[in-house]
Amino acid sequence: MKHKDWSPENSKWKAALDRGLDIKPKENDNILYLGASSGTTVKQISKLTRGIVFAVENSPEMAIELVKLAEKSKNIAPIFSDARDIEFLKKSIFGKRMNILFQDIPSVDQVEILTKASTLLDSEGKILFSLKTQSISQKPSKETFEKVEKMLGERFRIISKISLEPYHKKHYFFVLRKQAY
Ligand SMILES: C[S@@+](CC[C@H](N)C(=O)[O-])C[C@H]1O[C@@H](n2cnc3c(N)ncnc32)[C@H](O)[C@@H]1O
Repeated sequence: MKHKDWSPENSKWKAALDRGLDIKPKENDNILYLGASSGTTVKQISKLTRGIVFAVENSPEMAIELVKLAEKSKNIAPIFSDARDIEFLKKSIFGKRMNILFQDIPSVDQVEILTKASTLLDSEGKILFSLKTQSISQKPSKETFEKVEKMLGERFRIISKISLEPYHKKHYFFVLRKQAY
């Protein structure tokens, strides 16, 4: 698959960035990126940091594209895995400190996947979460958003939340931090 241009229409990270959220990686940030697809966004994000982008994808077709992309890049590490397999992810990041966790996996258990993966994030790290309400429920989008917001609020500190309409229908974007205990 040919890599598309990076635009708010084909990337939730880019859409949220254009909306003014403080989500640009810092110079040396390591990133755990769940739901990498063929790497359209991974490619752009990898240029913004000298850290490593660990790009997780479970579709073989997409993972092959990711591997090809990684061959041309210095700091993309593709991981062919189900993002739910925390033990495998833990081994694959080689004990590196993760500064950003990003998740773009439209799935009914999106919040659970995020919660488990957040254990791999540094305590000072940032969590970026792209929510597709329709993957969770067929109820009105706002209703699902509010339900998910409540769940997230019980597990994390919510820094920002925005709708990604009209770029991405029924999508919201959250910036979260781990709770300080
Ligand atoms: C919306 S796309 C991601 C688009 C990508 N973030 C971008 O901006 O270019 C979601 C991706 O998550 C992958 N995916 C779905 N379930 C997954 C899982 N359990 N573990 C890892 N990847 C998964 C899909 O195969 C798909 O490529």
